[in-house]
Amino acid sequence: MNPPIDPVALVTGASSGLGRGLARSLAGEGYAVALVARRESLLDHLAAEILDGGGRVGVFPADVSERRQVRRAAQDAEAQLGPIDLLIANAGIHVRSPDLRVMADDVEATFAVNVLGAVYAVEAVLPGMLERGRGHLVCVSSLAAYGGLPGSAAYSASKAALTSYFEALRIELRTSGIDVTVLSPGFVRTPLTAQNAARRPFILECDDAVDRMVRAILDRRRAHSFPWPLATLVRVGRLLPRFLYDAVLSARR
Ligand SMILES: NC(=O)c1ccc[n+]([C@@H]2O[C@H](COP(=O)([O-])OP(=O)(O)OC[C@H]3O[C@@H](n4cnc5c(N)ncnc54)[C@H](OP(=O)(O)O)[C@@H]3O)[C@@H](O)[C@H]2O)c1
Repeated sequence: MNPPIDPVALVTGASSGLGRGLARSLAGEGYAVALVARRESLLDHLAAEILDGGGRVGVFPADVSERRQVRRAAQDAEAQLGPIDLLIANAGIHVRSPDLRVMADDVEATFAVNVLGAVYAVEAVLPGMLERGRGHLVCVSSLAAYGGLPGSAAYSASKAALTSYFEALRIELRTSGIDVTVLSPGFVRTPLTAQNAARRPFILECDDAVDRMVRAILDRRRAHSFPWPLATLVRVGRLLPRFLYDAVLSARR
């Protein structure tokens, strides 16, 4: 029997929203996909859809904030599908923190998933990629990484940490054959934004965002921040005097 030749992508947070869309699209691009998230029944449902379409897929339930579970999921995925060529560290949560007195709990919970979950996934796949001298690490960060957002302190801080972590990896890995891509979407219509009542300028439909992300992944771009009007606004926001930044963001609340 010939060994499988399709590349393997491991997608965290594949049960919903962007991760689900990315897994489905990557399967359409010829990737075998390893689906990781906690809600196994949703992963099974997506796996059945991908199998129906003729793709190769496996379901590996895990809580990404648990280091051992992430390692086990990656090991099982490699045993079933083959060496992982592409990691999409996408799993994420957004906890609004209206009560500043308990914010530490929200920060802990958010960093456990949004930052450490991605770090554990990198830890699980990077040694194999280094051995093979090829691979691709992708994180789904956010335009929220560009500055502190009121009401979303934990989220924006976690995304800033995630972006910085992957940027550092990108430079450290530049001669290793492993590419690193930081994706920074603005607002996208998914269950994550549905629970958030704040204003969401330039919001994108999930399929549209997924298409943009898949193109950036296949082009192995170093970074992709979108949609451009909001990406430009947040970049300009970094250059504003702080009193103006504070005034604009206070009005947004
Ligand atoms: N929607 C937006 O506007 C937007 C904008 C910028 C960036 N993003 C980022 O895009 C990523 C995906 O978000 P989304 O909008 O698609 O949200 P979503 O529909 O709520 O999906 C979040 C995914 O993360 C998974 N997840 C959450 N906690 C997990 C845990 N402890 N272990 C394993 N998986 C976990 C969820 O799966 P289970 O619950 O089944 O575990 C789910 O599959 C996130 O990193 C988010 O920050 C979203």
